[in-house]
Amino acid sequence: MARGSSPLGIAFGFLGSGLLESAAMRVVDLDRDMSDVIPTGTTPDSEYLFARMTERTLALAEAGPGRRVLDVASGVGQDALALAADGAWVVAAEPSKRMTDMALLFAAEKPDPRPRWVRSWADGLPFADGAFDAVVCKGAIDHFDRPDEAIGEMARVTADTGRVVLAIANFESLACRMGRLVSHVREEWLGHPSARGRRGYDVPSDHFTRYELSLMREQASKHLILEVVEGISLAWGAPGWSRATARMSPTVARWALEACDGLAARVPTWADVIVLAGRPHRGAAATSR
Ligand SMILES: C[S@@+](CC[C@H](N)C(=O)[O-])C[C@H]1O[C@@H](n2cnc3c(N)ncnc32)[C@H](O)[C@@H]1O
Repeated sequence: MARGSSPLGIAFGFLGSGLLESAAMRVVDLDRDMSDVIPTGTTPDSEYLFARMTERTLALAEAGPGRRVLDVASGVGQDALALAADGAWVVAAEPSKRMTDMALLFAAEKPDPRPRWVRSWADGLPFADGAFDAVVCKGAIDHFDRPDEAIGEMARVTADTGRVVLAIANFESLACRMGRLVSHVREEWLGHPSARGRRGYDVPSDHFTRYELSLMREQASKHLILEVVEGISLAWGAPGWSRATARMSPTVARWALEACDGLAARVPTWADVIVLAGRPHRGAAATSR
């Protein structure tokens, strides 16, 4: 999906000239698959991280009967379906046609109540001010080309007493720092050749922003009164951790992952994922939009 970034862009779009369109349109890669984001193989640490991130994000939305919840950048819709299953009235907003088509396919097999599916960019949400009790945006802000505006929009469509919940990968996690250190020692000190392909601590090519705790706090605080800043999981992607958890008995692996998660909750700057939640604030940043 591409869209005009200005009246000129829209006019060029209507003219239908490929050359003019490509000069004037804002194009974001939305037709990729998710293989770069969600690991295809399942290891105990990956399973734990993704399950815990989802569990905590959705819990903070406090979905239930009578609650209106918006899932921004809802992807293939699994979280919107879970929120609807909890009894909330749910809207799933997602700009990608491919993702929306997949969401519709998955949803077709699910019982009612189901979410309403809307094609929309995060930085121009087609909803009234204060329309939702909670807005969630999980694992997606780093894909946005206008994250600041997107958070502003999420705050705008959230009721004064409502809550925006953001879950974002931390590229300054303990695991990323350890990974970089090990690569440095191997390559610079021991003379090993550089590893091929993307390393776990490298930002994927479809990310616009490399987030870490202070940037997340700074961007979110412009639009939200932060009530929760929490870390999820520790050591995901650290050298040898995946293999180590796979070799442990399921009980020991679970214990180790929970212990790491407990530490991450207290020291979010080390965590693999950071969850922030807060009420919208209608201060200067909000009114200057
Ligand atoms: C990694 S997926 C996350 C999907 C889902 N929230 C989840 O947890 O599975 C990122 C999503 O962001 C969407 N996206 C990318 N740029 C966007 C933008 N500017 N506004 C809204 N969504 C966007 C993509 O289409 C994609 O579905």
